[in-house]
Amino acid sequence: HTAEIEVLNVIGSTNQYLKDQTIGLNNAHTCLAEAQTAGKGRHGRKWVSPYAASLYLSMHWSFAGGYSVLGGLSLAVGVAIVDALNQCGVKGIQLKWPNDIYAQGKKLAGVLIEVEGQIGSECQAIIGIGINVALPTNIEEIGQPWIDLSQLSEPVIDRNLLAGTLIRELTKSLTLFENCGLDPFISKWRTLDIYANQPVKLLIGEKAISGISRGIDGNGAFLLETELGVKAYHGGEISVRPI
Ligand code: ATP
Ligand code: BTN
Repeated sequence: HTAEIEVLNVIGSTNQYLKDQTIGLNNAHTCLAEAQTAGKGRHGRKWVSPYAASLYLSMHWSFAGGYSVLGGLSLAVGVAIVDALNQCGVKGIQLKWPNDIYAQGKKLAGVLIEVEGQIGSECQAIIGIGINVALPTNIEEIGQPWIDLSQLSEPVIDRNLLAGTLIRELTKSLTLFENCGLDPFISKWRTLDIYANQPVKLLIGEKAISGISRGIDGNGAFLLETELGVKAYHGGEISVRPI
């Protein structure tokens, strides 16, 4: 696929921008913005998106198999982001199930995938990625420890180079995911797992379950070991926290 790329100045959300016009978009159609006034995280949370300080990118992809083939997509995207960062000289990145990218124990980047369509028929996915490049010191409160690429590489990595590398890696990875599913990404994801064999708690709505993180199964479900054994957890309404 050749990626069509739109570069915008200030907009609400790059995900929303593509969602509003999914009909007729080709796979790998990408938009980037300098700033977002309504950057979104999961569950309606906010993604802090100051001007020219990060990469705000969304890519459109339509999947022939519908929702049912998308399990684990955010994990494959996480691996693609790590590959792109490694190629730009940034090392020591880890992944937190299901959608976060960490460095030195702090959040560097996040993935927000939004899907429209039906089970069994074609569905439209918007893959949104925010990567902190050099956030201003007077940034508004983020609510959890964060890090940016300026703290990880000297001199700070060029945003255009990162954007180009990321678009190439994403396009490759989404093509592979479309053809082979999550399989080709599993072993790499496991080597990047921030909580491998660590005590964690799973937050499922109001409920919290404590145990030992045992990584992911072949479908990308989170594996938690408790005294009852190892259980697989699917689905987007779950968060993992360290104990
Ligand atoms: P989980 O994905 O496990 O539920 P999370 O707290 O990381 O946990 P997300 O919805 O993935 O939640 O991400 C949104 C959260 O990310 C925000 O609530 C905020 O704490 C944090 N956040 C917002 N903007 C940034 C940013 N630019 N860099 C790092 N972290 C940010
Ligand atoms: C998360 O950690 O919850 C995901 C954050 C995703 C942020 C990116 S920035 C580009 C795209 N547009 C959005 O509004 N969100 C994603």
